[in-house]
Amino acid sequence: MLSHRILFSEAAIAARVKALAEAIRRDAPHTAPVLVGLLTGSFVFIADLVRAGHRLGLEPLVDFIAVSHYTHDCQPAGTALIYKDVALDLRGRAVVLLDDILDSGISLRAARDHLMGHDPSWLRTCVLLDKPARRVVDLHADYVGFEVPDVWVIGYGLDAGGAGRALPYIAALDEPPPGRKPTT
Ligand code: IMP
Ligand code: MG
Repeated sequence: MLSHRILFSEAAIAARVKALAEAIRRDAPHTAPVLVGLLTGSFVFIADLVRAGHRLGLEPLVDFIAVSHYTHDCQPAGTALIYKDVALDLRGRAVVLLDDILDSGISLRAARDHLMGHDPSWLRTCVLLDKPARRVVDLHADYVGFEVPDVWVIGYGLDAGGAGRALPYIAALDEPPPGRKPTT
């Protein structure tokens, strides 16, 4: 396993996920919003968020979208590509778009703009982690779990070149990964 140091323990993450579920429960116009996760990194976060929400009376629908701002041969594409769309009909629905980490903001902005085209009645963005130092587009998530410095983080769904997703906590790599991997 890559050398790392823990930033957020399982207990700390669980407490923040519960607080995010409470905020969504409070703000969403009804108890069945559609939670749309950005693949792949959000899958652990969304799994815990739906169960934290259930304990608060939320019965969300779940769908996923995949965006990359890299092409399949790992060249920067310049613009973000939507390569998997939602299956659900979002017209008139309340939607929360979720990602593991907000970095440059290119992926989340592209996904948000794309979902707006599906005509939801209400749309909010929620990220577990926010790395504002790397932002290149003017974007703020509506709900943020934790702010992180400009370090490469792994665990709780986040990876470095495919490794580290299964760690139950969130950790910073001691050595940054070589180059920036294609991110999804
Ligand atoms: P953005 O479009 O640059 O904001 O990219 C966001 C995506 O990059 C996230 O969904 C993650 O998949 C990935 N990413 C950004 N920073 C990290 C990190 O520190 N660790 C793991 N993945 C990251
Ligand atoms: Mg991602």
